[in-house]
Amino acid sequence: MCGIVGYIGDSKASPLLLEGLRALEYRGYDSAGAALLLDGAFHTVRRAGRVEQLKEPLNALNSKATIGIAHTRWATHGAPAEPNAHPHLSADERWAVVHNGIIENADELRADLEAIGVAFASETDTEVIPQLLERVGMDGDFECAALENLGEQYTPLEALLDVLPLLKGSWALGILCADVPDTLLCACQGSPLLVGEGENGMYLASDYAAFAEDVHKVYRIIDGEIGVLTQNSVTFYNPAGQEISKTAEQFSRKEQSSDKGGYAHFMRKEIDEQPLAVRRTLAHFFSDDGVFRLSVELPVKPRKIWLVACGSAYHVCMTGKYVMEELARIPCEVAVASEFRYQYPLITQGDLAVFVSQSGETADTLAAVREASSRGAFTLGIVNVPGSAIARACGAVLPTLAGMEIAVATTKAYSAQLSVLYALALHFAKEAGHEAPELEKALRQLPEAIQAALSTEETAQFIAEQIADAEHAYFIGRNLDYAAALEGSLKLKEISYLHSEAYPAGELKHGTISLIEAGTPVIALACNERLLPKTAANIREVTARGARVFAVCTNGNEDHLDADAVISLAATHPLLMPSVEVIPLQLLSYHVARIRGCDIDKPKNLAKSVTVE
Ligand code: AGP
Repeated sequence: MCGIVGYIGDSKASPLLLEGLRALEYRGYDSAGAALLLDGAFHTVRRAGRVEQLKEPLNALNSKATIGIAHTRWATHGAPAEPNAHPHLSADERWAVVHNGIIENADELRADLEAIGVAFASETDTEVIPQLLERVGMDGDFECAALENLGEQYTPLEALLDVLPLLKGSWALGILCADVPDTLLCACQGSPLLVGEGENGMYLASDYAAFAEDVHKVYRIIDGEIGVLTQNSVTFYNPAGQEISKTAEQFSRKEQSSDKGGYAHFMRKEIDEQPLAVRRTLAHFFSDDGVFRLSVELPVKPRKIWLVACGSAYHVCMTGKYVMEELARIPCEVAVASEFRYQYPLITQGDLAVFVSQSGETADTLAAVREASSRGAFTLGIVNVPGSAIARACGAVLPTLAGMEIAVATTKAYSAQLSVLYALALHFAKEAGHEAPELEKALRQLPEAIQAALSTEETAQFIAEQIADAEHAYFIGRNLDYAAALEGSLKLKEISYLHSEAYPAGELKHGTISLIEAGTPVIALACNERLLPKTAANIREVTARGARVFAVCTNGNEDHLDADAVISLAATHPLLMPSVEVIPLQLLSYHVARIRGCDIDKPKNLAKSVTVE
């Protein structure tokens, strides 16, 4: 996903912009750039590839500029090449713009502009914005009236207010106008954007990680709002151009620790942070004297519960369905958000629709929230970023308190999401009169159970060494083990690029088993003790065809499994086992990726949050 940073203050902008971009690298990108404004002119540096490639040319500029904008680009329109890197300038070089999102009507706007002679320098959708800003006039429709011709009565804010209604799609924007060098403008629609206030000036950023040490106040810009930043202040406006007031949240960089703390990778650090993430999240559901309670009002006995998300969060929903239906006896329907938003979900008033998202900014999940809302569902967000778009769009929010997650591959947020769904199922079970004291006790002790599972790293590493050279791997499991298999398979694929698939163990013989050859690695999840004999039989089916089986089971069941290696785990409540058995799968993927020399925290072509369709 693209990242935006901006600065206006009394310090040199260049190092601050570079530092901000480095903090956004984890979001995934393929090019980067910065524009500095000094003495009425822009000095722009853009490169395909890593942020570090900006350092030398920016230093060479040795610019005294104290105002600038910068960007990491995750290509959507136009190749990941220097001409398409942001910032983009207007033809007269009076405007510079950085953008996160998609301008859906860019082609029409571009055609209109080219029809009046505008020559575009890039293939991007973004470039229509600076070109429009240059040409928008008092009577609109691209009157060729640059700012200075309109005199002081036409400010950059008014130009922006005229341009924004022309755009369709999503945007978070940082904008500079060379004719008015003491302001930095910003606006957003469907993409996250924050303004930071610090001792050394004012900042713009796509997320908290990019703010400098001196930032102590943060304003989250809401869709439709515009911000006008000066060296030491910010003024906000609504789409009609009327000034509005906003409340800042206190901010401290220390809270957003974005260093590896001695680990080789953020992912490995975040795997170890899972017991704490789950403990902090569950504390939200238990009062100091240990009484379980929900902090939000939800529909009583919903007819149906929809569980909707993308990627790993979808696997959380898969787990949630099994747990909710077994514990609370409420029908659940699970959907991938990108499918849900285009199917015709049979939602009726009083249904509960739950949306799970680490970033709270995933475009498909956000659109699914709006779809469910429009059909009368009560929407509940389970998000890791307070104030995110999905959090704001939902009727209620149950937060995961995992802290900032830097690695693209989610681990601690995933585990925190699972714990919220268990708590939700427990809530509805209690509401229906089904007390579950054993589960409640196990839920309180879940952080310890996860901590214990971290001790399986040595065996996970051994198995990683056995499969690192494989081309394909298969994950199998039944019931909750299948949901965990889905997550284990995604983790392996997304960080080690080793192709893998997850299957219900009973499903293999319906086709896929034809792919099992001598030496094919199969990771068999057999933690569901009720179904252990069935899974053990499925393991024999694949070993009979030459597979190398690496099993995960609960202590004492190792001998039931015909496997080359077994990871055995201390059992917790059966419904909570997905949180325990995912730990060795995360460690397995991490070590396979390490052995294969992959970029573990920033896998190729992946973004931490996908804010475009
Ligand atoms: C997780 O390892 C993946 N990076 C990805 O599948 C992720 O879970 C998905 O993109 C959803 O993101 P969200 O939780 O921020 O909505």
